Amino acid sequence: MVEVIDGKQVAASVVESVKAAAASLGNESGVQAGLAVVIVGDDPASHAYVNSKSKMAKECGFKSVQHTLPSETTQEELARLVSSLNADTSIHGILVQLPLPKHLNAEPVIQSILPEKDVDGLHIVNAGKLATGDLETGLVSCTPAGAMVFVRRTHGEDLSGLTAVVIGRSNLFGKPMAQLLLNAHATVTMAHSRTKDLGDICRAADILVAAVGRPRMVKADWIKPGATVIDVGINRVPAPEKGEGRTKLVGDVAFEEAADVAAVMTPVPGGVGPMTIAMLMANTVIAAHRAAGVRVPKI
Ligand code: GUN
Repeated sequence: MVEVIDGKQVAASVVESVKAAAASLGNESGVQAGLAVVIVGDDPASHAYVNSKSKMAKECGFKSVQHTLPSETTQEELARLVSSLNADTSIHGILVQLPLPKHLNAEPVIQSILPEKDVDGLHIVNAGKLATGDLETGLVSCTPAGAMVFVRRTHGEDLSGLTAVVIGRSNLFGKPMAQLLLNAHATVTMAHSRTKDLGDICRAADILVAAVGRPRMVKADWIKPGATVIDVGINRVPAPEKGEGRTKLVGDVAFEEAADVAAVMTPVPGGVGPMTIAMLMANTVIAAHRAAGVRVPKI
């Protein structure tokens, strides 16, 4: 029988640890952790994500600030906002929601965030620390950090001898995920859209992580019997069974058939998704501890 990980439950326990850490930082140092979330334009899905991030930050006892900028915002205006948040000592984490409208260049914006406030883990300093195995002073991208909580829960801290395959090579997920697995001593293969014989490569994986953005692409015969399968895809597909014009969310893994082969799986929705926000809260409270010079508790 496959074990389906309840991402909401695991995320809730991370959030409880974050709340406790935020409260003790407040009591002992008088510091309230602060998160600023910046969104440009009116993409409804991005607004929904950002609203839940701001709301969760409040629930954690943080100072939560949301900057909603119009689509016509210029590169200079966005740069000025980031610069003012960098200088604001009550803000410990800055997140600029991606994607930005087409006329804006995300890269200089991300690289202008102070690395110690880069709770998205996208600054090259944080990417570099992860790549060199420094997990103590950097900040790790939230979705891979969340996926890694599931991996550790199943396999423990030490993945020596285990084979991991990550499908997808984005800076936001695939690359940091592979680094985290490698840091934990897994033997890691990174696969992507140009990989040949993808199914054969996936079938070797004790830990298979799919982040391609193709609905139900990973079939049962791509999965090694007994594998742990982490599905990072969030794809909206038609759901005529729910009525005309209705849609639903599915992952990159063909869940029902994969469940006959895998030992552990994450569902979509309700798997990795809730962990992303929980890890953003964790990164913010970690950044606040470091800024206050207080030892960071285990979250
Ligand atoms: N858009 C979708 N996911 C993310 C994320 O984790 N961080 C940012 N900044 N934007 C996103």
